[in-house]
Amino acid sequence: MATTSPRKLDHIRITVDSRVDHDWTSALLDDVVLVYKALPETSLNDIDTSIEFLGKRLSAPIMVTGMTGGHAVAAEINCAIAKAVEELGLMMGVGSQRAAIENPNLAYTFSIVRKCAPSAVIVANIGAPQLVKGYGIKELTKAIEMIDADAVAIHLNAAQEAFQPEGDTDYVGVVDKIRELADVLGKPIIVKETGHGIGLEAATLLRAVGIKIIDVAGAGGTSWVKVEQYRARAKGDELLAAAASTFSGFGVPTAQAIVETRWAAPDACIIASGGIRSGLDVAKAIALGADVAGLALPVINAYVQGGGHAILNLLKRMIMELRIAMFLTGSKDLAELRSTNIILGQRLLSLMEARGISAELYLNGPRLL
Ligand code: FNR
Repeated sequence: MATTSPRKLDHIRITVDSRVDHDWTSALLDDVVLVYKALPETSLNDIDTSIEFLGKRLSAPIMVTGMTGGHAVAAEINCAIAKAVEELGLMMGVGSQRAAIENPNLAYTFSIVRKCAPSAVIVANIGAPQLVKGYGIKELTKAIEMIDADAVAIHLNAAQEAFQPEGDTDYVGVVDKIRELADVLGKPIIVKETGHGIGLEAATLLRAVGIKIIDVAGAGGTSWVKVEQYRARAKGDELLAAAASTFSGFGVPTAQAIVETRWAAPDACIIASGGIRSGLDVAKAIALGADVAGLALPVINAYVQGGGHAILNLLKRMIMELRIAMFLTGSKDLAELRSTNIILGQRLLSLMEARGISAELYLNGPRLL
């Protein structure tokens, strides 16, 4: 318990001070081209970016995914994000609440989010390894009640844990545990990765156990193996640092993760994250089959550079870019964006072929998604 909070602060420091993007893997969103329509037959002013999500109306399909909590600095960051999403009508998650479940004195670093965002969609957060160690309905309910959450995210981070000397590397029984919880928890469960991607196999298992919302958090943005590589080096553990370097670009790229998850779980609600860096990326993710797109690292970087104001500007820019992308593809609303014409690059197409996914889903015109 005593180590959770300082470790989290370590993580934040590393992500803002160092280059933590995947080393050789991109999110593959460059392999998704939205076809420009010189005659969009719509007006920029009429574009509707809104979406219904978890029973509330979002002004745009954008989520700040879970990052922090557990110490005083995190409380300030959480409140700044919360104020921005409240003002803009977006949604956010908090970071792992394990620290506060184990030490109630830290609960305020999470619950501040609901105070700063009284009406926004807020998502609680618990790590899958904790489920193996005995967390169940009681702890999840605690996490939800702590922040009056609309849903709870269970995060998967096997790649990261494998490179922590203190890592929780036992994933045996996680799927069964998720099934049990999905059956009895009164709130929706989101299963999310943390930057190494949910692909065909995991999405198939999640669908089978009744999970309806999946955040793919693919490779191409923040690499948690890379973060652990820096930590290992700082502690003088060169062996672990070298092994982490080998895997620092490992995972399912975000575009591939969206396609594979949509293929495996056609009826799921998909949050696309991992390397989403602009409103154009959001538009591409939605055209590829996602419902909502999420981002983490750019938000913490914005906070460090310019506080809540910079977060607000970043998110405003993303909404503006999404709106323009929709205008330029002649998509009046998100349903039209999801069936707009796109062209897929060779790399993504060959990955789809290798995985037995039909590219016909993405041919011109309405698709079956
Ligand atoms: C994260 N992420 C994360 N995810 C989670 O479920 N629980 C957590 O506690 C954290 N903590 C955390 C801290 C920091 C500083 C960052 C940058 C990220 C992962 C995050 O939600 C997201 O899945 C990945 O970072 C990929 O998105 P980006 O960063 O490429 O936009």
